[in-house]
Amino acid sequence: MTTTISVINQKGGVGKTTTVINLAARFAELGKRVLAFDLDPQGNLSTVLSGGRYEFNMTVADLFDKPKRVDIQATIIQGEANKEPIPNLYLVPADIRLSKVIEQSLTQIHRERILMRHLDKLDGQFDIILLDCPPNLSLTSTNAMMAADMFLIPVDGGSFSLNGLADLLDALEEVKETENVPYFAFRNERAKQNKLINEFLDEQLKGLRDRVGTNDKSGVLNSCIRREESIGQASVTSMPLRYYRPSALATMDYKELATEVLNKINELQR
Ligand SMILES: Nc1ncnc2c1ncn2[C@@H]1O[C@H](COP(=O)(O)OP(=O)(O)O)[C@@H](O)[C@H]1O
Ligand SMILES: [Mg+2]
Repeated sequence: MTTTISVINQKGGVGKTTTVINLAARFAELGKRVLAFDLDPQGNLSTVLSGGRYEFNMTVADLFDKPKRVDIQATIIQGEANKEPIPNLYLVPADIRLSKVIEQSLTQIHRERILMRHLDKLDGQFDIILLDCPPNLSLTSTNAMMAADMFLIPVDGGSFSLNGLADLLDALEEVKETENVPYFAFRNERAKQNKLINEFLDEQLKGLRDRVGTNDKSGVLNSCIRREESIGQASVTSMPLRYYRPSALATMDYKELATEVLNKINELQR
């Protein structure tokens, strides 16, 4: 059974792409067949997981441009790190054409279901599909919402806003046509030294726990990812952190996060 997880937050720079890179690598290490899907025209995920490439023959732009004629299989490439294939890890890259193509898709019927229909054709080929969303709530994000079974929402101290989160949750509930959307917020870039921000965020996230109310499928994860320079350095050198610095403390954080997410997947499937 495939679980599709959308890593989503309309704010930029909160760690969506970094989360997809490192969760994908960890899930693959655990033997899960993983497809990481880049939905941001900036293509950062594509560059990192391909081991540094900037150009690709086929991308997600082609999937949106000619949904009937482009086969998703033709867009899938194997993940790479250090010029070696990463076992179990596959990627659908994005490129800058995506923004244009998405604008043109606005007139298509079933335009929010384009991605879902492509993913349906994968038919159990992957255990986990991770969608790296762009920093907005545009049609690309709506497609990700339609296609996903679960949502992971990274929040960070610097730009956190409960209003933004409320907008996102409203959009999720509307697209999924239910108030029981399984979404999980977690803290990224937790800075030990910044007590004020930490306390503020913990308080706000407690508010989110209360908002969840009767939605027992959702909540705030216990795992959080600390702020660590090696995380950014790894991405700049086009590697998941566990390849760049296996001994980094944040490598442990991603392991914990991955385990917690796998538990949530199991609960969902029950
Ligand atoms: N826990 C972290 N510690 C240090 N740097 C981080 C952390 N998470 C993300 N970053 C850095 O912050 C920047 C934005 O992260 P990114 O994943 O691209 O965010 P988004 O995809 O939400 O726009 C990147 O340069 C990334 O390397
Ligand atoms: Mg991103």
